[in-house]
Amino acid sequence: MSEPETPDRATLAERARQSFATRFGRPATTVVAAPGRVNLIGDHTDYEEGLALPMAIDRSVVIAAAPRETPGDTACRIHSVAMNETCVVRRDDLVNTPPPAGRGWKRYVAGVLALAPDAGMSAPAFDAWIESTVPPDAGLSSSAALEVAVATLVESLVGRTLPPLEKARWCQRAEHVYAGVPCGLMDQIASAASTAGHAMLLDCRTLAMTPIPLPAREVAVLLADTGERRDLTSSAYAERRQACRDAATHLGVATLRDAERVDLDRVADVLPPAVLRRACHVIGENDRVRACAAALRCGHWSDAGRLMNESHDSLRDDFEVSSAALDAIVAAARSIGSGGGVHGARMTGAGMGGCVVILAAPEAASGVMRRLTRIASSVLVVRPEDGAGPVCGG
Ligand code: GLA
Repeated sequence: MSEPETPDRATLAERARQSFATRFGRPATTVVAAPGRVNLIGDHTDYEEGLALPMAIDRSVVIAAAPRETPGDTACRIHSVAMNETCVVRRDDLVNTPPPAGRGWKRYVAGVLALAPDAGMSAPAFDAWIESTVPPDAGLSSSAALEVAVATLVESLVGRTLPPLEKARWCQRAEHVYAGVPCGLMDQIASAASTAGHAMLLDCRTLAMTPIPLPAREVAVLLADTGERRDLTSSAYAERRQACRDAATHLGVATLRDAERVDLDRVADVLPPAVLRRACHVIGENDRVRACAAALRCGHWSDAGRLMNESHDSLRDDFEVSSAALDAIVAAARSIGSGGGVHGARMTGAGMGGCVVILAAPEAASGVMRRLTRIASSVLVVRPEDGAGPVCGG
């Protein structure tokens, strides 16, 4: 393995609990966790009410916390181990003066806390210690995991839980308003509502979430990281969203979910070729997600893998969000082929860096890891994890 053993949720929770007590001089009263996610297929479809197939992974953000003991105190002291930084967030200040859009972990935390009253939640001031095993900016939704973990912490401190969909919407708004990223809802829903042992077929129009079993004895999910880091606050993500909006407007549909490939012929003369290609990707990707979910349900792993391959090609050629490093890892994984246990490989998430996801036979996983380690900065096997919640004993 190219990675040292990653601690599971319970181990990470125990570590956070101990560090909290050392740092703040009293025991934590709650410990919560929220996972990162990998998307098996269906990228750049969520914001056009399309279909996606994410899976929460066994890499999580864990927070140990306790309410502040001084009455009337509104300051929250929050320490991030990954960033080696403590920030003080005053909830009253947040509500009055939202921070401007930009980067930084504190914006995600501050955004969720500032919007808590809109979600009907009013948490007491607290101290918190944050640990994470979700690699940052690798396309595995480290920011959504942080948002959902903070929202889950607020739920725990208030003593009331929201339906996962409402919690996901609260976190998505925090990302829009406080981080300036016009993301869809997939990452927050995957982190909030996934089921262990399953991927989730997510319909971003009806918001139906259908668990799709991924039996560990039959299929493995691997991630190969390019080591390239991308920034969703860059203009590329917003530009792609806008191109989809333009295409939908010209087609006379509310979202590209309502369009079919033949419809594009009607607007081929008026839309720039790049915009047509973006729409072509989204329309085709929805069909691929549908077919892939059906294949996974039947255990037809090689059919699912073929659809993942087609998805990558579409993201590379039509949506143009792949990169040379992503393409190189995808090519290396595909060259191992079905004989070597690789069913399919594609970039995952927003793209332009981050990770490749590989569907493989479990018995082939260690060999595939060895082969890909030569060109990837790290390769790991990930398992489908439960969505966010308190950690046992937390
Ligand atoms: C990012 C966004 C998601 C989604 C993906 C691409 O992860 O946060 O909403 O749009 O990109 O599928």
